[in-house]
Amino acid sequence: MHALTVVSGQLEWASRPDPMPQGSQLLVGVRAAGVNPADLLQVRGHYPPPPDVPQDVPGLELAGTVVGVGPLARRFKVGDRVMALVGGGAQAELALVEESAALPAPVEIGWEGAGGFMEAFATAYDALIIQGGLTVGARVLVTGAAGGVGTAAVQLAALAGAAVTASVRRTDFHLRLRELGAQRVMPPVEAAAAGPYDLVLELVGGPMLSSHLDQLATSGRMMVIGVGAGRRLDLDLSLLMSRRAGIVASTLRARPPFEKAALVRTMGERLLPQLASQRLLVPVAATFALTDAPAAYARVGEGGNFGKVVLLSGG
Ligand SMILES: NC(=O)c1ccc[n+]([C@@H]2O[C@H](COP(=O)([O-])OP(=O)(O)OC[C@H]3O[C@@H](n4cnc5c(N)ncnc54)[C@H](OP(=O)(O)O)[C@@H]3O)[C@@H](O)[C@H]2O)c1
Repeated sequence: MHALTVVSGQLEWASRPDPMPQGSQLLVGVRAAGVNPADLLQVRGHYPPPPDVPQDVPGLELAGTVVGVGPLARRFKVGDRVMALVGGGAQAELALVEESAALPAPVEIGWEGAGGFMEAFATAYDALIIQGGLTVGARVLVTGAAGGVGTAAVQLAALAGAAVTASVRRTDFHLRLRELGAQRVMPPVEAAAAGPYDLVLELVGGPMLSSHLDQLATSGRMMVIGVGAGRRLDLDLSLLMSRRAGIVASTLRARPPFEKAALVRTMGERLLPQLASQRLLVPVAATFALTDAPAAYARVGEGGNFGKVVLLSGG
């Protein structure tokens, strides 16, 4: 097979031995794989993958057809359409997947939607619903709302009955965010003064962090998931104390398999039906051939995308 491979900080399309599924692994013929900001960091040597995945093949999510199964695999068989969360190695013609981290890929969303679903929706679901404890009527701020995680989060929060404020730089994305369920769509400076918020999903970080904390309601929570614009904060803890507020910061990639399995199982129960009926959408900003990955990475790095950038392969 061929795989996108990181060699001395550059992406190369390289030949690799076909992987063999062990235990409860599936071997998937990849049809689509999302590109995430984490992949760009990995190429630059800043985000090492967990030890149990190919160290030099990026990619955290994929969709494709099962072409082989390990002796202990029970839920899927050769020929099934799946989408899966992986710690790395998705951007290749063939990829190994733990079957507990895979879900059936609904035909309704096509390969490109399925290839861009898992990482963004798992991150958003875990942050908002599982860790964030989102409740009906909660006032939620989603920063970086036009990105992959942001568009997932706006939809999940709206479906859960929250009042969603989407913070976004580009005014031409306002209508589309409203269509995904945001009640209010605002430029970042305005959204950062338009609280109180019961839950802030922080996907950007940087200079606005303090303002977002200032807008937390009593018992409010900030979930820190992305800090691409800056990771430092000068924090007056008495502000959190007086509001009984909290900050939780979290990553998904390095979690142990049993935690990912629990998350994926819940997504299967709660999100798969909504995805198949298209009450949840996977906005795809652009697709590129897997062999044209450097252009796809450049597109993610440039920003200005609504939703996901997805690599496609012939399978
Ligand atoms: N903790 C985890 O496990 C986890 C999992 C997935 C993702 N993440 C992180 O979460 C963040 C979002 O991921 P994603 O996949 O949604 O990325 P994405 O698709 O690239 O979207 C990022 C969004 O943030 C906006 N943004 C970037 N810099 C900004 C700034 N200085 N001010 C205002 N908005 C800004 C972008 O707007 P423009 O298009 O206008 O630039 C874009 O809409 C990334 O930092 C990613 O690394 C973390």
